[in-house]
Amino acid sequence: MAVINAVTDLSVEGDIGVVTLNSPPVNALSAVVREGLKGAFEGAIADPAVKAIVLICDGKTFIAGADITEFGKAMTGPNLQDVQAIIENSPKPVVAAIHGTALGGGLEVALVANYRVAVPSAKAGLPEVNIGLLPGAGGTQRLPRIVGVEKALEMVTSGQHVPAKAALAMGLFDELVEEGNLRAGAITFARKVLAEGRPLKKVRDLNDKVEAARGKPEIFADFRKANAKKFRGFMAPENNIKCIEAAVNLPFDEGLQEERKLFMELMSGSQSAAQRYVFFAERQAAKIPDVPDDTPTIPIKKVGVIGAGTMGGGIAMNFLNAGIPVTIIEAKPENLERGVGIIRKNYENTAKKGRLTQDDVEKRMGLLTPSMEMEALADCDLIIEAVFELMEIKKEVFTKLDKIAKPGAILATNTSYLDVNEIAAVTSRPESVIGTHFFSPANVMRLLELVRGDKTSKEVIATCMKLSKVIGKVAVLVGVCHGFVGNRMLAQRQREAQKLILEGAMPWDVDRVLYDFGLPMGPFAMSDLAGLDIGWDPAKTSSSTVREVLCEMDRRGQKNGKGFYDYDENRNAKPSPVVEEVIRDFAEKRQIQRREITDQEILERCLYPMVNEGAKILEEGKAIRASDIDIVWINGYGWPVYRGGPMFWGELVGLDKILAKMKQFHAELGDDFKPSALLERLVAEGKGFKDA
Ligand code: 3HC
Ligand code: NAI
Repeated sequence: MAVINAVTDLSVEGDIGVVTLNSPPVNALSAVVREGLKGAFEGAIADPAVKAIVLICDGKTFIAGADITEFGKAMTGPNLQDVQAIIENSPKPVVAAIHGTALGGGLEVALVANYRVAVPSAKAGLPEVNIGLLPGAGGTQRLPRIVGVEKALEMVTSGQHVPAKAALAMGLFDELVEEGNLRAGAITFARKVLAEGRPLKKVRDLNDKVEAARGKPEIFADFRKANAKKFRGFMAPENNIKCIEAAVNLPFDEGLQEERKLFMELMSGSQSAAQRYVFFAERQAAKIPDVPDDTPTIPIKKVGVIGAGTMGGGIAMNFLNAGIPVTIIEAKPENLERGVGIIRKNYENTAKKGRLTQDDVEKRMGLLTPSMEMEALADCDLIIEAVFELMEIKKEVFTKLDKIAKPGAILATNTSYLDVNEIAAVTSRPESVIGTHFFSPANVMRLLELVRGDKTSKEVIATCMKLSKVIGKVAVLVGVCHGFVGNRMLAQRQREAQKLILEGAMPWDVDRVLYDFGLPMGPFAMSDLAGLDIGWDPAKTSSSTVREVLCEMDRRGQKNGKGFYDYDENRNAKPSPVVEEVIRDFAEKRQIQRREITDQEILERCLYPMVNEGAKILEEGKAIRASDIDIVWINGYGWPVYRGGPMFWGELVGLDKILAKMKQFHAELGDDFKPSALLERLVAEGKGFKDA
């Protein structure tokens, strides 16, 4: 066996040269890997004993793509395209042997091999779009030549990982070999190629599938139209589509040049920078400095949920989906029945869409035990409380729970705002208490804010962090403060939105500016969707806010066709002249002089105070790092991922610019705009949030 370099070996088994990469964690195409590939292929091609070459990887996966950490840095080592040319022009058949995930540049390397064999658990995909890019090593030109234009469009714009069986069916893989036997299977395959004298098939020469789409621009027009909503605001999907168009309309080498140009356009832009930042930020969020990876965890075999309302039901579904039995407790039998009924209905709807079998529905429902007795929680390892947002009720529940739960069980609260330490203090085991703040709908939203109390133990934190992965959530550890990270920052935006409509803007102006920024919906459209009357009590109403006045007028939101907007029978929103009148009248009564408000002011008033609040959160140590705050906003509130989260975006705007505006607003509009000390310090020192 020849050692090519630190991560690459070339061994010769009879007539087969086997190139093995071993560059943990995911064999990404770093400079040393590209160097190794070059050396190994040149060696194998030059060795007369070698008649065919197998490329295989050690570790958990085949090459998972370019090394994203190298992006934006000066290039060292051979470039990927030159390495690919050596492989593609090999006079001896090349077989890529795939396990794990062949992604991005990894699949692009496999696509310059003559054949691809894989184990049944392998997957392949071009996920560059998820980091704001496109496959920049020929992927957009080679993929449609194998799978056809429609499938290629879908793959490059979704970034989906295609399972081996499907990859085989679409011709992306040539053969599946027995699980755990990839190396031998690939060698046998290579020998078969030699024995049969199969031609040195090159993907670049396959033209029939791209030719079939030539002169049919409607394929692309239809695809753009069907996905317009999904792609809104993103640059990468459009550039990916343009590349597939180039594959159809241009000769191969010109298509490659077009791909290069469109790739560089994305690579130098702020969207990809933001999305690459988010990729690493999400992984960083899992790392808690004082809770090392090897912290012991508590096995969670059974979960209890208290309250079967909006949140309790959704929370329970997360565990049922993961095969973990749940006991759900209610105070009112009718609420228990309704809550369990909604869970069933959700599953049945998923089954109707074909994403679950009826058998799965029954299996999941079979794991659910509804009960009216708290005592039924005695054998649960984790109990999550999701009752009304009232401290007295929460305390009552936790006092009782303390007596019922088994020693070591985790006692969690889903509170949105309340003090987790105060809740923990009513128990004899505050170390077992933690906040698990799910977002609505709890079975859908990816974010889980884990709220660490003063006494929460490391074992409890480590267990909840790991468990979040099991239930498909992205967990961010935060500290105790009013509204934690997400809602605390949201309050800034909500306050300004309410003030702006009195000072001169209309709800639809505020909503439009925030929607165009990339948020899924503005604050007023959101209120209408949730229902204006949430938390509104007709017995205590006092016309003290526009919302209250609207509720008093029976404008309750989308559900009764009128809220801040008027709705038609298809729930299309129209600005409401009645609401406009209410707002003008309300402002007049409070002697607020209305004035022209620009879109720019709306954006700055709504978003700069959020960045400032984020800085305060960091300063108080309520978030571990700025990127954790960004992960909260992207996964919990639909902050556009191509803007990287509020803290990343704040730095892009310029912290100095934000501080200057905050100071100006502070002088003109008062203490709501008091700049954070951290923001002042970072600007004075010319630093960013990562130096905080
Ligand atoms: N470059 C550098 N580091 C990478 C990486 C990459 N492409 N992919 C993963 N890593 C790192 C992660 O940051 C993580 O590091 P850490 O342990 O220090 O936090 C480690 O590898 C393990 O990653 P995960 O925690 O994500 O491990 P999983 O097993 O959950 O997932 C995976 C593995 C499916 C490969 C997932 O990491 C992934 O999706 N990676 C990105 C794949 C990708 O986007 N490829 C395309 C890159 S762009 C490209 O190829 C351009 C080309 O067209 C020219
Ligand atoms: P909800 O009103 O829909 O449900 C609460 C349920 O708890 C009711 O069915 C009620 O009968 C039951 N309940 C009350 N006291 C009980 C007791 N002692 N024992 C058993 N059951 C009891 O409320 P929702 O919206 O589900 O909120 C629950 C918690 O989740 C609150 O703390 C809330 O702040 C928080 N939360 C709510 C979000 C939302 O969007 N609705 C988002 C995130 C957190």
